Amino acid sequence: MSKQLPAKVDMEKIVSLCRRRGFIFPSSEIYGGLSSCWDYGPLGVELKRNIKQAWWQAVVHERDDVVGLDASILMHPQVWVASGHLEGFTDPLVECKSCHLRWRVDDLKDNKCPSCGGELTEPRLFNLMFKTFMGPIEDSASVVYLRPETAQGMFVNFENVVNTTRKRLPFGIAQIGKAFRNEITTGNFIFRSREFEQMEIEFFVKSGTDKEWFDYWVKERLNWYINLGIKKDNLRLRQHMKKELAHYALDCYDIEYLFPMGWAELEGIANRGDFDLVQHAKYSGKSLEYFDDETKEHYVPYVIEPSAGVDRSALAVLCDAYDEELDNGEIRVLLHLHPTLAPIKVAVLPLSRRGPLVQVAKQIYADLRQCWIVQYDDAQSIGRRYRRQDEIGTPFCVTIDFQSLEDNQATIRERDSMNQIRVPVSTLKTVLAAKFSGEPLFVLPPGGQIWKGGENG
Ligand code: GAP
Repeated sequence: MSKQLPAKVDMEKIVSLCRRRGFIFPSSEIYGGLSSCWDYGPLGVELKRNIKQAWWQAVVHERDDVVGLDASILMHPQVWVASGHLEGFTDPLVECKSCHLRWRVDDLKDNKCPSCGGELTEPRLFNLMFKTFMGPIEDSASVVYLRPETAQGMFVNFENVVNTTRKRLPFGIAQIGKAFRNEITTGNFIFRSREFEQMEIEFFVKSGTDKEWFDYWVKERLNWYINLGIKKDNLRLRQHMKKELAHYALDCYDIEYLFPMGWAELEGIANRGDFDLVQHAKYSGKSLEYFDDETKEHYVPYVIEPSAGVDRSALAVLCDAYDEELDNGEIRVLLHLHPTLAPIKVAVLPLSRRGPLVQVAKQIYADLRQCWIVQYDDAQSIGRRYRRQDEIGTPFCVTIDFQSLEDNQATIRERDSMNQIRVPVSTLKTVLAAKFSGEPLFVLPPGGQIWKGGENG
């Protein structure tokens, strides 16, 4: 019988698992790493793709009122003047007069350097946008910025989308893409980095209906995390106080997750009013009014913006899924990942590396990988291979043993319960498909049986 251990997830364990199993590495590690930049390894990239795919599926493909966009990262510099980022996207920063480390004022508990206790300078404003130059000449006329949010790409394309899709209000534009911020305080692994990915929706509505849509999106987005298996108790909503609101926001809720370092923002849902379209109309000289053909009115829509981070979602998913159990006196580390998010869906494990067993296993592997991402693993003992798959969150292992050669059956082992069933090889695809769509493990196909152990334990 496995037993829950009291000690659970902490950030060091997550970082170590990610490193050990190839989810996430420090960027440019052979050169000593680059502060607050991370590389997603073979499993991490699959996890991230699954998160993005689940989001896109929920907010674009399953809806008639949201369309997608992929705008360029570099945008006309006037975009950042209009959006207020050039003037307002700043953090007050102080420097320690002794050790010269820099700190965000709002991160300080008292007026001393948190590192050495030294005296601090007066605060200076520091813009978080990364600046670079377009073309061969590095002068002020060629300055461009790496976008600090994907949102502006959707505002500047509002008219293009209305004209080409003939969408009527209310409708939204969704985008997934990289954003860059020269953050002063980083840390907590991938929680706050300088290069990260956002999943944002700008949902355009008629003013007067904005509060209703705001409430709708807060609920919708919270449910998205719950549907992906994140524990309800680890999620909460927090409304911004007036003084916290960003320069563009009329109202804002954060969806917070209970990370190992405490409650912190996973996603923000803001009512941006008509701020952005009015600003872009003013600076571009183009009217961004919408013509309502029902009421025959011209007006500037309001915008509800659910803005999520891919990397923060990945961190929340990993923290939430992490578990340790005592199994036969050993610690079993496992990730209870939702099957939709698991990087590897099925592992095919032949009990032996030799002879006809391999042929059967390879055939099953070839067959299953037409439907899912499948890993073939024949190295080390079966117990170790199960542990390896548990640790990366693989929902099902298919084991082929010597008896399979006689009865043409294979064992399916479920990750969380470690329960096993034995089914005809010819039914593997349909049985696994049914289990992925939520059918309990012990519902058996004709000829199937509950497996109490055998060669493959
Ligand atoms: N367009 C609105 C906007 O960008 P934000 O609250 O600054 O709002 C939205 O960012 C989301 O982007 C956050 O909830 C978070 O998930 C993610 N995010 C922001 N800064 C980040 C950083 N430095 N590292 C990782 N994720 C970040």
